[in-house]
Amino acid sequence: MTTQAELTVFSPAKINLYLRILGKRADGYHDLETVMLPLNFGDEIVCQWRATGLTLECDQPDLPTDDRNLALRAAKRLAERCGVTQGARIILRKRTPLAAGLGGGSSNAAMVLQALNKLWQLDAPRATLDELAAGMGSDINFFLTGTTAVCRGRGEQTAPIPCRLSAAVLLINPGFGISTKWAYDNWAKLTETHPAVTVLARALAADDLNGVSDALFNSLEAPSVGKFPVLQLLKDTLRAHGARGALMSGSGATVFGLFADAGKAETCGVEIRREFGPSMWTQVAKFAESAV
Ligand code: C5P
Repeated sequence: MTTQAELTVFSPAKINLYLRILGKRADGYHDLETVMLPLNFGDEIVCQWRATGLTLECDQPDLPTDDRNLALRAAKRLAERCGVTQGARIILRKRTPLAAGLGGGSSNAAMVLQALNKLWQLDAPRATLDELAAGMGSDINFFLTGTTAVCRGRGEQTAPIPCRLSAAVLLINPGFGISTKWAYDNWAKLTETHPAVTVLARALAADDLNGVSDALFNSLEAPSVGKFPVLQLLKDTLRAHGARGALMSGSGATVFGLFADAGKAETCGVEIRREFGPSMWTQVAKFAESAV
């Protein structure tokens, strides 16, 4: 077998259409039920084969390229687990905002596990990658699954579901990050009324945008909106410009709107930057196809 010298992989961002916290666990994490969808927007990762040494480079200067970076940690864990003596140079072209609720770091870690498994010709089974993923974070397993999924436990138990939603998504990041730990710590057990996840799943399978919009839910939204009222303003503005539904993704601070029409989503992004200023990051995306 010849050694492949280089692999380039797409590292998708995700949004949560539904995130319901069920309660706090003894280990400090929270049990949840969440629906995550991969987007056709994300980062690019190049993995080049090297005889020895593992290095990471990134075009986003705010992101550490040492062991604090989940992508490098994933590479090291895979190498340790499989007794790898080869090396790799990992180049990360970052497009997804950081600490944004879009799963950027988790996606990078999952894609590095898959890419190096190929580049190093390890043939490590999915179960091994899943075990490494669960040991490093709660969302990495979802990105290994790669399709729309209901995720449970602390997020690491993934069950793919069919998604035929053809809507356009407008992502808006207000330029500040929200710590995932802070968001969970401030989740107050509000007397939440929540839609059932099965209602959302049915609407996704039927490409029913109104049904999906009515079933959007996020337990982490209320504490974040309380601290950062601009998030509510952004949601209201999305709706005023034609979004059928709007929600904060994951632990925020990105909010998204669902549009029947990509043109309207683009126009809304322009309006948001005009009304709120150029520090607003906006991006129109589509849902990546579900293989289920
Ligand atoms: O797993 P991850 O590193 O993404 O989580 C970051 C932090 O978010 C955890 O340390 C924890 O405080 C919180 N968290 C939680 N329950 C989850 C997922 C994350 O409390 N299900």
